[in-house]
Amino acid sequence: MKTVTKISYRDSHTYPAKGAEYERHYETQAWDRFLWSREREILLTVLTKYFAGRDVHLLDFACGTGRITSLLEDHVTTSTGVDVSGSMLAVARQKLKRTEIIEADITVDNLFKPKQFNLITAFRFFLNAEPELRSTAIEALADLLTEDGILVFNNHHNLGSPWIKLLYAHHLQKNPEGIYNVMSIDQMKDLVESAGLEIVELYPVGFFHPPKVPVSYRLNRAIDNVACKFKCLSRFSENPIVVCRRFKSAYK
Ligand SMILES: C[S@@+](CC[C@H](N)C(=O)[O-])C[C@H]1O[C@@H](n2cnc3c(N)ncnc32)[C@H](O)[C@@H]1O
Repeated sequence: MKTVTKISYRDSHTYPAKGAEYERHYETQAWDRFLWSREREILLTVLTKYFAGRDVHLLDFACGTGRITSLLEDHVTTSTGVDVSGSMLAVARQKLKRTEIIEADITVDNLFKPKQFNLITAFRFFLNAEPELRSTAIEALADLLTEDGILVFNNHHNLGSPWIKLLYAHHLQKNPEGIYNVMSIDQMKDLVESAGLEIVELYPVGFFHPPKVPVSYRLNRAIDNVACKFKCLSRFSENPIVVCRRFKSAYK
């Protein structure tokens, strides 16, 4: 019988070449570059909307090479990035100017307590984390969130997207033993609620991604501009971003 060794997502980015590979991915993959341009806009919108005139203390969880941190560090009062991968953080160290960078696993090490943050970001993490890691991470992050703070995270394989549905069905047919992670918006909601948080806003990102068909940046942009006007279409977006806070009744 074939033995399948399951490794934790914690270890997935720790080999020495990973940081440089991750950076190259963002330089060469048109779809991910497009998503990143939308993510940038949304993160800056969220900052203005939720923090106008207030101090912001950022924790970028699973910060990797500092993609999100590097956008936000100049807009916040204090900036902290944490990740388990030395290889990813080596790239982040070259980029980040005003961020405290910490190599650790907050699901294991209790490093920040009693410190809390009013803005926590976690991008490209929850989708790929295995169920045990998803729940320990969301619980650890909820503990680190101030009463009035927000957690912002994405899911880049939303099962509501027709393209992801298609790819997932193909995967189940051709390679059911392999890994192709998907997450629905309901699963995002359940995850958040399991840690006493609630989703207060959802930003839909990325609507037109037919497999193997190159689509120009401008066309993708135009389609997103139109699709985002219709709330009922949000669930079809490939990379929804959610803003979460403590469940309201918890801080009455
Ligand atoms: C796909 S990368 C995302 C990096 C960055 N957030 C971004 O969006 O570009 C996922 C990161 O999660 C990190 N990671 C996995 N498990 C972790 C854990 N338990 N604690 C901290 N970081 C973790 C990995 O080392 C990796 O750098």
